[in-house]
Amino acid sequence: CRPRTQEQEVKRGQNRQGFQKYLAPFPSDKKLQGGGYCWDSLQKHRALDGNVRPKRHAHPVPHRGLGNPNAGSYAHEFQCEVSFYAWSFRSHAPSSTTLVTMTDRNVPVRHAVVPAAGRGTRFLPITKSVPKEMLPVVDRPSIEYIAREATDAGIDDMLFVTRTGKESIEAYFDADPGLENELEKAGKDELLALSREYLKLARMHSVRQGHPLGLGHAVLQARQHVGNAPFAVMLPDDLMHPNSTLLKHMIDVRHALGGSVVALLRVTPEQATAYASTSVTPLEIPEGVSLKDGDLMRIDRVVEKPPLEEVMSEYAVVGRYVFDPAIFDELTKIEPGRGGEYQLTDGFARLIDRDPEDGGGLYGVVVNDRRFDTGDKLGYLEANIALALEDPKLGPKLAEFLVSEAGTQLKGRLAKVLGL
Ligand code: G1P
Repeated sequence: CRPRTQEQEVKRGQNRQGFQKYLAPFPSDKKLQGGGYCWDSLQKHRALDGNVRPKRHAHPVPHRGLGNPNAGSYAHEFQCEVSFYAWSFRSHAPSSTTLVTMTDRNVPVRHAVVPAAGRGTRFLPITKSVPKEMLPVVDRPSIEYIAREATDAGIDDMLFVTRTGKESIEAYFDADPGLENELEKAGKDELLALSREYLKLARMHSVRQGHPLGLGHAVLQARQHVGNAPFAVMLPDDLMHPNSTLLKHMIDVRHALGGSVVALLRVTPEQATAYASTSVTPLEIPEGVSLKDGDLMRIDRVVEKPPLEEVMSEYAVVGRYVFDPAIFDELTKIEPGRGGEYQLTDGFARLIDRDPEDGGGLYGVVVNDRRFDTGDKLGYLEANIALALEDPKLGPKLAEFLVSEAGTQLKGRLAKVLGL
């Protein structure tokens, strides 16, 4: 899992072009029902039966430290780029393979990595058969909000880090030619448009984590896909209001200052113990960034889920990050941390002392937009109610219902208190 050499990078680019040509005889993605491909280093494997798997070269091996590329995962089996025809055959050109230096802050942020390999135990029993990310918020799975937020921020390539049982996430963003044909023939244009909405979103890919060794390990699975480019990490439990411009501002900061950028939420000390807690210094807002004074920080220290007495400030890290690719290098150096897991926080904490010329530097953007914690049952319900209230079709009736329901429940409670 070492970064590709320049020569490999060039070959890979040629390989991709060759691959595109190879597929050119197919006139449109409608003809391609299912199937997939994967390229493992410079090898290509393809078949139309949907059962494509790269050859298995390695078994999980005992490990200490993520420097071992095989640590806890079927390195060659899953750490390769896996896409599906329907996704890959869209009009998008393959991601750029232009050679870049690791720290060039002008390189656009085009990738988002979405760790989605958790079991979702807080939502059992439904998560036995439905991925948490597919639970609806109003009328869309919560993962779609993440995909829209990324696309709105200029990201055109998303990588889900998944596990077995999460296949419905891939299916959701995939074409369904059977359904689309049926709706087209029946002239059901509105439904057809709904079933094709995935086309407006970033191109989707997935990779498996293999073993649940923590968030840092999950992000490291993206290394081969992302390569030497800056990228966003979006934790799907943190659902931002659809109007949020947070990620865009974070990307602007990356362009202005280089290094890596995390989102900072103002929390109480008690709440801070459930997040990564930071020690920060406010920074002047650089040119090209439209944040207000006090909303940009340099991060001086960060600690994953500290005990109350070690909370450093009111600023806690929430699930939006924009990383320099140097994070991959740092993630290979960490040891298991809090909860015995490879923590992403321990990886990016190391960027603080890393040379800025070599991808170091860590900044924070304060979250002012509305955010919901959909990893928690109450937060999930709040997201549903708040967003449904804003929906022009559902909102007014739901507001009426909530007022009347609250009135009835209050009356009941009052009657109890008053002994009526
Ligand atoms: C994760 C991260 C933590 C971060 C939080 C934000 O924790 O490990 O640093 O503050 O997400 O939501 P989790 O909520 O997965 O336990």
